[in-house]
Amino acid sequence: MEKLPKISEMVNLSGKRALVTGGGKGIGAAISSRLVEAGAEVTIADVDPEIHILAEELSASFAKCDITVPEQLKAAVQQAADGSSLDILVNNAGIYPPTGPIAEVSDDFVTKMLDLNVRAQYSASREAVNYMSNGGSIVNISSIAALRGGASITAYSTSKAAVIGLTKAFANELGPKKIRVNAIAPGIIDTEGLAEQGAALKEGGIDVYAAIAANPLRISGDPDYIARATLFLASDLAEFITGHLLVVDGGSTA
Ligand SMILES: NC(=O)c1ccc[n+]([C@@H]2O[C@H](COP(=O)([O-])OP(=O)(O)OC[C@H]3O[C@@H](n4cnc5c(N)ncnc54)[C@H](O)[C@@H]3O)[C@@H](O)[C@H]2O)c1
Repeated sequence: MEKLPKISEMVNLSGKRALVTGGGKGIGAAISSRLVEAGAEVTIADVDPEIHILAEELSASFAKCDITVPEQLKAAVQQAADGSSLDILVNNAGIYPPTGPIAEVSDDFVTKMLDLNVRAQYSASREAVNYMSNGGSIVNISSIAALRGGASITAYSTSKAAVIGLTKAFANELGPKKIRVNAIAPGIIDTEGLAEQGAALKEGGIDVYAAIAANPLRISGDPDYIARATLFLASDLAEFITGHLLVVDGGSTA
């Protein structure tokens, strides 16, 4: 019988370089931490300059970067690849301010939401692929808001649904280059970003703190659950998986 690689070898990311956008807080910080633990050389690209402190604590590199600014994004990708090669890109940075009723959502707001949540993910992947001549894994963070919509978060739902299309299209084109492209749809996860938006979302009829453990498992959404799923998709455990949307929500959309 053919000797199979050991599980511990398949999740070992030693010698791999990874870039996590928005990797300084919440879900991104949990992902950065798990990738470092698995042995990867991680670069955190984040717009918040204070994130250099977390990066140092994690033994990760820090690229101060607004991913919507092309030159800053290019520089962050180049830094993460150390000018030679990149193995893993996690497109995590995103915003989710509530929008109110459709009639009150301005074009400028929709444009801003799509620019960060979709266009910048597209651009980051395009730049990263230049350094993935040995293959690679891209993990895009979508949301369950892409699957079931939501009053007062229309622009957000639209942006996160677009991430699924982007993922499938990229997976098809990049598969022959052995670059796998997958997405994760987190359920409601307890993060700083969620706390900041909580009050405004409640005004729009969404009580995130009531919803946070309102899933069949009755477990509060922890950022580490998304980090574990990311590690799976980024590693060789997912060698035959591409173009997939992995829903990680305690069963709330089941
Ligand atoms: N928290 C949830 O319930 C939840 C659920 C589903 C999906 N998501 C998605 O997960 C991702 C992370 O969410 P979170 O709750 O951890 O967010 P968060 O607000 O807690 O953290 C986001 C990080 O991204 C950084 N960032 C924001 N804009 C940036 C930019 N232009 N360039 C670079 N960095 C930038 C921030 O500085 C911050 O460090 C987002 O894409 C979000 O839409 C979150």
